[in-house]
Amino acid sequence: MPSPPVERTLSVVLSPMEPLPEADAWLVLDLLRATTTMVTFFSLGGERLYPVETLEEARELRSELGGKALLLGERHGLPPEGFDLGNSPRDLTEELCRNRPLAVMTTTNGTGAVLKASSSGKPVFAASIRNASAVARACTPFSRVGILCAGIYGKTALDDTLGAGYLADIFLRTFPGITLRDGAVIALWTWQRQAPEIERAVRLSDHARALESLGFSEDLSFCCTPDSSREVPRWRCQKRHSYFEGSPG
Ligand code: MLT
Repeated sequence: MPSPPVERTLSVVLSPMEPLPEADAWLVLDLLRATTTMVTFFSLGGERLYPVETLEEARELRSELGGKALLLGERHGLPPEGFDLGNSPRDLTEELCRNRPLAVMTTTNGTGAVLKASSSGKPVFAASIRNASAVARACTPFSRVGILCAGIYGKTALDDTLGAGYLADIFLRTFPGITLRDGAVIALWTWQRQAPEIERAVRLSDHARALESLGFSEDLSFCCTPDSSREVPRWRCQKRHSYFEGSPG
C-alpha cells in the first residue's frame, strides 16, 4: 500500500531561544541585516561564506583560510576592529565579491541563528525579502519547512516577524493547502495588518530605528526590496568549518 502523502507545513520560530520543532529544512531569517547581506554576497559572485559565533573565531578562521577571505560582520551595528567591512549589504560590490569570493562573518544575532539551525542536521538556507520567492521555490522538495527568526538579543523582533509573515504569504501562494503552524499564523497576521508596504512596516521596528540612528537608513530600503535576487545560499556541513555556498534558485 502506498504511504499517505506527508502534510506540507510551515513553522515559524519567532525567537532563537525557542526549541526547534521537527522540520525537513530550515530557512534562517535575519532581515536586518545578516541574511540579507549573505544573499547579497552570493548575488554579487561570492562563493563561500563561513558564519561563526565570536570575533576571535572569525579572525582565526580568516588567517586559517590564508588571510584573503573577507572579514564581515558587526557588533552594535558597526564593523569590529580589523574587519574589512561591517554588515551593510550595500558595502558589497561585484568587484569585491568576485576578487575575494570567500568570506567569514560574525554578527550579533544572525550568524548564531544559522549555527542553531545547522545543529538540526537538516538542509539550511539563508532567507530574506530579496530572495523570498526563490527561497520558497527551493523548499519544494521539503514537506515540513521551518523559518528560524534571528530576533534581537534572544527576543522576538518585529522586523523578522514581518519578514517571516511575508515569506508565509508567499508559501501560501506557492503551495496552496499548506498548513501554517501557530508561529507562522502569528507572523502572517502581523504582516497582513501592514501589507502591502513591507518597508514602511519594518521601519517601525526597534532594530530599524537603531540602524537609522547609525546612518543606515538606506539599508532598510535595500533589505525590503522584494524579489531582487534569485540566490538561495545553501548550507554545506563539513567536519571542520561548515559554510554557505551560493545556488541560483
Ligand atoms: C545581527 O545579526 O544582529 C544583525 O544582522 C545586526 C545588524 O543589523 O547589523
